[in-house]
Amino acid sequence: QKQRIEAVLAAGPIIPVISLHREEDAAPLADALLEAGIRVLEITLRTPAALPAIELLSKRLPGDVFIGAGTVTDPAAYRRAESAGAGFVVSPGITPRLLDYGLTANAPLLPGVATVSELMLGYELGYRSFKFFPAAVSGGVKALQAFAGPFPDVTFCPTGGIRQNTASEYLSLDNVMTVGGTWLTPESRVRTGDWAGIGELARESLASCKG
Ligand code: 3PG
Repeated sequence: QKQRIEAVLAAGPIIPVISLHREEDAAPLADALLEAGIRVLEITLRTPAALPAIELLSKRLPGDVFIGAGTVTDPAAYRRAESAGAGFVVSPGITPRLLDYGLTANAPLLPGVATVSELMLGYELGYRSFKFFPAAVSGGVKALQAFAGPFPDVTFCPTGGIRQNTASEYLSLDNVMTVGGTWLTPESRVRTGDWAGIGELARESLASCKG
């Protein structure tokens, strides 16, 4: 059954954006994040380990968890992500070909936009949810508040420059259901296999988003 991107964004307030250098880190990292309460994982296609990791995780994780592919920039990469089992796809920006492909793809697309004009290109094709990237340097919370005027029916997942201490400001906006970022999976902790530390960071981040 075709999943809608809204279901992915509604699953949890934080999406860890993960770059994996070793395929064998995928399972323990995902387990630590899930145990902490994370329900959506985005694995970026920036390393050779990404597709095998998506394939592995999509087979072994529970049905209420979403595994998606990030940093997808063209339809060929989109198809590779879908073949690996990605449940959703995230792009840092948009191209006409990518937006077209996403309309009929099995894995729904969360297209990346930084401006109103980019948003409108997606909007006229029917997209109503976007990644706002790079959020912090593209106007942050104030830009999202301004977007709500002309586009009250659009929701955003801001990503790029968001940290534990700024996530809740974004989540307090009506047009933000979830935020994404790499702060939950610091390279140094992944490299040393500090899964307990990563779980702790995810727990703290989720707690600060609720309070
Ligand atoms: C992304 O692709 O979403 C970004 O690399 C995340 O940005 P961050 O490292 O500032 O969280």
